[in-house]
Parts: sequence; C-alpha cells; structure tokens
Amino acid sequence: MNSGAGSKPRMEKSSDRIIGGALLDEDARIDASVRPKRFADYIGQSRVKENIEIAIQAARSRGEALDHVLLYGPPGLGKTTLAQIIASELGVVIKTSSGPLLERKGDLTAILTSLEQKEVFFLDEIHRLVPAIEEVLYPAMEDYRIDLVIGQGAGARIHPFILNRFTLIGATTRAGLVTAPLRSRFGIVHRLEFYTPEDLVIIVRRSASILGIAIDDDGAFEIARRSRGTPRVANRLLRRARDFAQVRAQGQITLAVAKEALHMLGVDEHGLDEVDRNVMLAILQKYSGGPVGLGTIAASISEEEDAIEEIYEPYLMQLGLLDRTPRGRVATALAYKHFGMEPPRQQHGLF
Ligand code: ADE
Repeated sequence: MNSGAGSKPRMEKSSDRIIGGALLDEDARIDASVRPKRFADYIGQSRVKENIEIAIQAARSRGEALDHVLLYGPPGLGKTTLAQIIASELGVVIKTSSGPLLERKGDLTAILTSLEQKEVFFLDEIHRLVPAIEEVLYPAMEDYRIDLVIGQGAGARIHPFILNRFTLIGATTRAGLVTAPLRSRFGIVHRLEFYTPEDLVIIVRRSASILGIAIDDDGAFEIARRSRGTPRVANRLLRRARDFAQVRAQGQITLAVAKEALHMLGVDEHGLDEVDRNVMLAILQKYSGGPVGLGTIAASISEEEDAIEEIYEPYLMQLGLLDRTPRGRVATALAYKHFGMEPPRQQHGLF
C-alpha cells in the first residue's frame, strides 16, 4: 500500500476516496451525490449542529481557525458529511486522510505542512493511528508545531517547524479507543446520535428528489422507520426499493413496494437484518441469553468482532434488545419477546 520514500501525502479527495484499499462502489458515489453541502440542508443532530454553527461563527468573526473537533458515534450517521459542511461553512479547503492510511511519520508531516491558514484536515478512524504518529499530532494540535528531525544518529538535530493554524476534525466509531492525551486536545467534542424516523423521512424524501425517484409518504416512512436510525442505511434501502419498483412495480415506491423490497432484503419490521438476528439468536439460543463474550458470539456466527461491536451492537442496544455487562453480552426481556421466545424465570438478575 505504501509506495515508498518521497511518495505523495496520504490524502483523499472526496471524489476519489479509498476505503479498505477498494475504490468506493456505485452506491457510495450516489451517497456522495445526495450528501448535504451546507448546514441549511443538513437534517437532524440539532444540538451538534447548533453548537458547531456557533463555534464557526465565533471563529470567523475573530478571524481565527476553528478549534479542533472530535466527532464520534456509530458508522453512517454523517461524520464525514459534517466535516465537509464545516469546511464549506468556513469557506476553506478540506484535506482528508484516515488513521490506518498513515503508516509513517512522513505521511502525516507531509499533510500537516501542506495545510494553509485555517484549512480543515479531516482524519477519519483516528483511533487507529499508531502511537508514534499520534505523538506528531500533539504539538501540531496544541502549538501548530512539528519537530522535524534533520540528520541521523549522533548528529541528528530537532528543528521545530511552525505550521499554519489549521483545524483538525477527527472522527471515530470507537471513542473509547481514542487515547486521553489525544482526546484532551480537542476543544469541540460531539457524539452523533441515531436519527429519529421523522428526520429520516425528510432525508429519504430529499434523496429521492435529488435522484429523481418517485416515492409516496407511506413508502418514505416505511423505509425511514426500518433504517436503524442511520441515513446511510436509509439511502441504501431507498436505492434498493427503487430497483424493486422499476422491475416489479410501476416505478413508484409505495408502502406495498417498500414492504416487499425490504422483505426481499431480509430487513425486518424493526430494521434488523440477518446479522442482527444471528447475533441475537446466538445469545438467546446457544448461550441461554448470556452473559457471553463478544469473541464467542463473533466466532459462533462467523462475523468480525469489530463489525459486531461497531455496527450491530449499538443499534441492538438502542432498541433495548441487548445489554453489555462486565461479564459479557446479555439478551434483555424485550429480546425474548421480539423473537417470540419465553424468557427463563431467573435471568442473571436482569428480570
Ligand atoms: N444525507 C445523509 N445524511 C443527511 C443529513 N443529515 N441530512 C440531509 N441529508 C442527508
């Protein structure tokens, strides 16, 4: 992946993003096309939006760079979108990279030294920075300085290099894995929450109108309420419902079309998909409702631990089907009800 010394800084343009080494597919390109570009078009997350709008206005009126921003929360809730909006509201360029892409100190130094006054540097998956590279960020964030090492061995000298005043926007799905020294250097820290079905209806209708998809109110609501509180999921389900409407219906997404399309995709009444169900059924059926460790669940359903922890569990907990306890994962009384099962009388003191 690394092309060696003298390679270009590891940055991405939004039109050419690389995730996990693969170019984004058609769906992700469409996702980018429906992404709001300004706060005025950004639905939901009102507390975060309002706080950031005030900070931007204040920084602009003082003629200063915006303080560093840390955004965290489950995937698909709009961390990248918010970073892009912040840059456009500030009227500055955004440069983008991600924790695992920065393999050597030079990769990060090259980006930091390329930043102009008040520009935004968006660093996704910031919890995956290696410690040696993270340490370069500390003085860069605090004093807008990096320490360049010139020469080698006994003759090596440290030369402080003063950077332009920039704004770092860090994003992570795993706030718990961001180290305390890094976290403490962010002046603005916000957690993104799952969206309400009402907000998702507005997002679905907006995306449908941008993409030229005919959808009625009931169809939009059905997709919205089964989208796990996540705009990225809502937009994906919208596109699949459009495919279904074109091939099996008259091109319009009605309630019946949405229901059929979601059924074919294996998305249930609460927006749970096959992996969600496998996680819950493993706990309920194989491990008597828990407590059971994440590693055991992952192995028993052949899924990655990280994916279960970052993508599936947050929504299962939000629905109240799952609890994380110090002894492991536990199915709640509601989970038994949801899956039509009888809860055991004595369930680890939970009922
Ligand atoms: N598309 C994805 N996220 C969105 C949001 N928060 N508001 C409007 N459109 C979106």
